[in-house]
Amino acid sequence: MVTQVRPPRPDEMSAYYRVLPFANGLPSWEPENAAWHGGSEPWPPQRPPANTQRLEQLAEADINDASFHPVATFVDGMCVGASATISFAVTAPGGGTVRMAGVTATGVIATHRRRGYLRRMMQAMFDAALDRREPLAMLSASEGSIYGRFGFSPATYRTRWELARHEAALRPAEPDPGTLELVGATQAKQAWPKVHADVRACRVGELAPLPGRWDGLSDDTDGTNGPLRYLVHRDRHGEADGIANFRLPWSPTEDNAGTLVVEALEAANSTAYRALWSLLIDFDLTKSIVAPGRPRDEPLRWMLTNPRAMRVTRQTDNLWARVLDVPTALTQRTYLKHGELTFTIDDDQMCPANNGTWHLGTDEAAVTCVPTDKAADLTITLSALSSLYFGGMSAQQLACAGHIVPHADGALGKLTQMFRTDPEPHNSFGF
Ligand SMILES: CC(C)(COP(=O)(O)OP(=O)(O)OC[C@H]1O[C@@H](n2cnc3c(N)ncnc32)[C@H](O)[C@@H]1OP(=O)(O)O)[C@@H](O)C(=O)NCCC(=O)NCCS
Repeated sequence: MVTQVRPPRPDEMSAYYRVLPFANGLPSWEPENAAWHGGSEPWPPQRPPANTQRLEQLAEADINDASFHPVATFVDGMCVGASATISFAVTAPGGGTVRMAGVTATGVIATHRRRGYLRRMMQAMFDAALDRREPLAMLSASEGSIYGRFGFSPATYRTRWELARHEAALRPAEPDPGTLELVGATQAKQAWPKVHADVRACRVGELAPLPGRWDGLSDDTDGTNGPLRYLVHRDRHGEADGIANFRLPWSPTEDNAGTLVVEALEAANSTAYRALWSLLIDFDLTKSIVAPGRPRDEPLRWMLTNPRAMRVTRQTDNLWARVLDVPTALTQRTYLKHGELTFTIDDDQMCPANNGTWHLGTDEAAVTCVPTDKAADLTITLSALSSLYFGGMSAQQLACAGHIVPHADGALGKLTQMFRTDPEPHNSFGF
C-alpha cells in the first residue's frame, strides 16, 4: 500500500472534492424552533449535497485561487482525505494584521478513518503555512474533541440573542447627524467592503475578506426565508459607516411569526451602530428580533433601558486559534500593559521550534520575544497561549484548568494584564 500526503495536482482536484461528501453525513435535522445552527441564518434552508457539476465548478475555482492551498491523502492513487488552508490576514490586538492559515474543508472518507491521515495532513499544512510565513492557523471546529490535540483552542465566541420588541426601548442619546437608507443588493455590495474595512481596522479577530466576499448578496427570495434586506447608515458627509443584512422570514408557527432576523450588522462607530439597531429593534409589524452571530460583548445591551431584555439563547466557541510560530506571532500584536514575562512551552510536538523558555518584553518602542535562560514566570500549553493570543479568553480560567502553571508570584496577573483585549475579539464571518 502506497500512502502519499501532498497537494493534489490540478487534474486531481475533482477527486479531492469528492472526499467531503463521503466523509460528512447529511446535514443533521434540527427542529426549526431550536433556531440554531453554525451559519448566520436563524435556521438553515434545506440544501442538497453538491452535485457532480457543482464539485467540478469548485475544483476549477480553487485551481485558480492563489490563496487556497489544498492537501490530500492518496492511498494507492485513490484520494481518501482532503483538507485545505486559505491564506488570510486577521486583525491582531493593536490593530495590525497577522498572516493566518485558515484550515477548512477537512474530511477523511468513512472507510479510511482513524489511520492517522488527518494528523499527517495537518502536519503538512502547518509546515507549508510556516514556509509561507504564516505564524497562526485558525479554524471552526465541527466537533470540539478533534482539534485540541493539534494545538487549536477556542479564541472567539459567537452569541445568539433574542429581544422582544415591546421590551426593546433604547436609552436617550444625542440626535444622529447621519441618515438611514434601505437599499438593494447592488448598493449593499458597494457599502459592505468599506464598512468592514473600517471595522476590522479596530476590531481584533476580524478577517480581511477574500475577493468576491459579498458577490452573493441578492434581492431574490431564499425559499421561506424571504429576501435579504439591507439597511445602510451614512455619516453627515454621506459616507457609509454602518450596514445591516436582515430578513423577515415566513414562519410555520405562531410563536416565531413576526421575527426580524439580523444576519449581519457592522458599524464603524457607535452613532451608526445605535442608529441601525434603533430601527431594527422597532420595526413595525414585528414582535421580536433574533441575531444569531453576534459578539459576546454586544454593546446594544448597555443601550437598552432594560439590559435583561436581551436574552442570550445560545453561545458557542467560534474560531479556534493555533500559534505556529511563537516569536513571530507574539511580536505582531501589541499588549494592553507594557512589561516583561518569561514563559515555558514544552508540549508542541508539531511545531517543535516553539518549545523552550521565551522572554516577552514590551515597551513604547517595540515588542520582543526571544529565547532566554532565565527562570520562567510560568509554564503554558501551546493551546492555552493560542487561546490567549487574541485577548478574549481568561488566563485565570486556563490556569484553573491546569493549562497554565505559574512559578512566580503575580505571574498570572501579569499575563492577564498584558494579553487582554477590550472589546473582545470577534469574527463577523468565518471560512
Ligand atoms: C474528523 C476526521 C477528519 C478525522 O480524520 P482521521 O484521519 O480519522 O483522523 P486521524 O486518524 O488522523 O486521527 C487523529 C486523532 O484525532 C482523533 N479523532 C479523529 N476523529 C475524531 C473525532 N471525530 N472525535 C474525536 N477524536 C477524533 C483520533 O482518535 C486521533 O487521536 P490520537 O492522535 O490521539 O490517536 C474524519 O474522521 C472525518 O472526516 N470525519 C467526518 C467529517 C468531519 O467531521 N470533518 C471535520 C470537519 S471540521
